[in-house]
Amino acid sequence: MVTSQLLYNPLDPDFRANPYPFYDELRAHEPAHVTPFGLVVITRYDDVGQTLRSNDFSRDIEANGRVYDDPVSIRRRERQARGAKTILNLDPPDHTRLRRLVSKAFTPSAIDALRGRIESLVDDVLDRAADQGSMELVDDLAFPVPFQVISDMLAIPADRADEMREWSQLLTAAIEPTTTLETLDAADVALGSMRPYLSELIEHRRRNLGDDVLSALIVAEEEGDRLNVDELLSFVVLLYVAGHETTVNLIGNGMLALLRHPAELDRWRHDPSLDANAVDELLRYDGPVQHTVRVAMTPVVYGEGDQRVEVEPHQSVLCVLGAANHDPAMFDDPHSLRLDRPNAGRHLAFAAGIHYCLGASLARLEATVAIGRLIRRFDTIELVGEPTFRDRLTIRGVDRMQLSLA
Ligand code: HEM
Repeated sequence: MVTSQLLYNPLDPDFRANPYPFYDELRAHEPAHVTPFGLVVITRYDDVGQTLRSNDFSRDIEANGRVYDDPVSIRRRERQARGAKTILNLDPPDHTRLRRLVSKAFTPSAIDALRGRIESLVDDVLDRAADQGSMELVDDLAFPVPFQVISDMLAIPADRADEMREWSQLLTAAIEPTTTLETLDAADVALGSMRPYLSELIEHRRRNLGDDVLSALIVAEEEGDRLNVDELLSFVVLLYVAGHETTVNLIGNGMLALLRHPAELDRWRHDPSLDANAVDELLRYDGPVQHTVRVAMTPVVYGEGDQRVEVEPHQSVLCVLGAANHDPAMFDDPHSLRLDRPNAGRHLAFAAGIHYCLGASLARLEATVAIGRLIRRFDTIELVGEPTFRDRLTIRGVDRMQLSLA
């Protein structure tokens, strides 16, 4: 019998390099696994899906989770108390109110209207790559396209793009389970610079409303309700960070999966009718967000017999999306990449329930255009050397990937 500690050790370099065999072990032996810190790690598709959709859980971990007194937990609580919450860590009815207000800016028709702009951004990158016969996928394509799109949507000018990119990376580092006081300090410094800059932009926009999402958020009103200034600012930060820190990894991880399955790549290249299903299969196969936390509000039970685990109110549950997406009970031969997989769309890469990713259609569109146009523009796309992965757990993604193109 493998010991609990060995089963889930996200700090193990092998786990970081490829978590999927570890997820298989967990799912088979302890589908609800309690870590030494009392975190319940769930890996079955049904358990993860039901937990995300259940009203017995909260997303507001700071308000409802167990109170720990280690320095990192104390700092996390202080930071949370300082800033306005976003829809990502609110429960109904506040979540319902804010999500309704912001959803207006993310309607399918608003997203579809961006297609032409995304195509032209991608084509510019591909033209330059064609001249050079090579590209570094992340810096040349996967990062700049979603970054430019979300900046356009929020009417954020390009003049401080490098700083904004750095601040965003420092902010997402703070949501990692391995966060240290130093990471939190760095995130605070980043937020301290980002907030005044964005406040200034918001005030400017308020006086010059335009056709962008930021203007729509400023005027968003439903039954006399409005985003207050703090909510607006926090929401812009969330959108900005979520808008490019995730899709970059869908394009990076997705391209890597395709290059390791050349027959599938070739099939997609010649069959555009696969577009939608192929992107869902890439999200299932190696999605950018590996897990998300919920807090039990009532006693909950997972499994039965010697796999039975009782979760107490206020105990946190780690819903491992990456493991659910490789559960053989849901996905036949789950470690194979099959772009025409009939149920690929049932993946949980965008979570499920009320917090289902607000930017899902945008992310899908960006990945379809970026990957679709790249593989159709070049007949030969080859990896040069081995790609490296970012040193993150929550967000998993390729860091550098050099390609030769012909
Ligand atoms: C491939 C790219 C993306 C992936 C894999 C992804 C994944 C996710 C996941 C898993 C959640 C739920 C988190 C939870 O329940 O705890 C989420 C929520 C969210 N995502 Fe995304 N996301 C992506 C792209 C985007 C983009 C492009 C945007 C915005 C432009 C965005 C905005 C949001 C927002 C605002 C939420 C919070 C929704 C809520 O709490 O109601 N995401 N995303």
